[in-house]
Amino acid sequence: MIKVSICMGSSCFARGNKENLDAVLRYVEQNQLEKIVDLEISGSLCQDKCISGPNMTVNGMVYSVADCSSAIELIKEACGE
Ligand code: FES
Repeated sequence: MIKVSICMGSSCFARGNKENLDAVLRYVEQNQLEKIVDLEISGSLCQDKCISGPNMTVNGMVYSVADCSSAIELIKEACGE
């Protein structure tokens, strides 16, 4: 299973993770990724890495995502697209 967790702590939220989450969910839906890969997307509380945020975790690895397109790139990579 591919586990994606998007930080919804106040710092990451303010730095764009709300938009990143929306973009990722839209991408997954449009490409019906959940039918192709075992994918779980959730929100998380602050991951104590605010300084590098907005942050997103894929299978336990924390990534700093600058914007919606880098968040989507991360999902594509994780799903082998
Ligand atoms: S708010 Fe995301 S790491 Fe702190």
